[in-house]
Amino acid sequence: MTEHGRPDGIIIALDGPAGSGKSSTAKAVAARLGYRHLDSGAFYRAITLAALRNGIHPDGWGDLTHDELDRMDVHGRPADRGYVMTIRGEDVSVEIRSGQVNAHVSQMAAVPAVRQWLMDALRESGARGGLVADGRDIGTVVFPDAELKAYLIADAEERARRRLLERGVGDPPLEEVRAEAGLLQGRDAIDSGRETAPLRQADDAVVIDTTGLTFGQQVERIVALARERGGVDRSEETP
Ligand code: CDP
Repeated sequence: MTEHGRPDGIIIALDGPAGSGKSSTAKAVAARLGYRHLDSGAFYRAITLAALRNGIHPDGWGDLTHDELDRMDVHGRPADRGYVMTIRGEDVSVEIRSGQVNAHVSQMAAVPAVRQWLMDALRESGARGGLVADGRDIGTVVFPDAELKAYLIADAEERARRRLLERGVGDPPLEEVRAEAGLLQGRDAIDSGRETAPLRQADDAVVIDTTGLTFGQQVERIVALARERGGVDRSEETP
């Protein structure tokens, strides 16, 4: 047991707007420290996909009950040092990144019952510490007692450019970058404007503007902060 009282290490919360690089950074930081990575957005995405597959019209999402959510059979299956999202046992890691899910996920994530339903699962995964979790409300609502909270921001066009590069479309033309930036900002507006657990920086979060940083630099910055806050390197241990 360490001084922070969590047997497996500290909790690191990474929040920020769409496409700010939270998930890839969180994954790399987790690998560096030998921690687990929890991508909370992937859960919201999987629920959205399940509802779309079940033909539930988005207008009815606000009325989803706990039982109906249970019956969708959405799970995060522990794998390596993270979680693989499944619906009825099927790995949906690729499909949850589709344009259709992108277009609807913020509407699903604004439903209080959905957030409540997920909360227990998310908190349970952090019970032992040794976790890097990323999302919108990790430092404010899910793990308000996280030892390290970082809020990642970046210029919208830079975020859009990175997203398009990730999709492997080569150096994207400016119109495409602008169109993608518009989509990301649309999602940010819904995420920031909702009543339940809106996207916002925790008062005690360290703000990291990644616009001018390389991926390696932003990972190093967070690993260094984690070490200052008592994050012990467990990367030599088996997961
Ligand atoms: O990767 P990207 O930043 O595009 O999004 P994500 O982290 O996969 O999250 C997808 C969506 O889920 C967000 O736009 C939010 O609407 C929602 N979300 C949330 O409300 N709370 C979280 N803790 C994580 C995600």
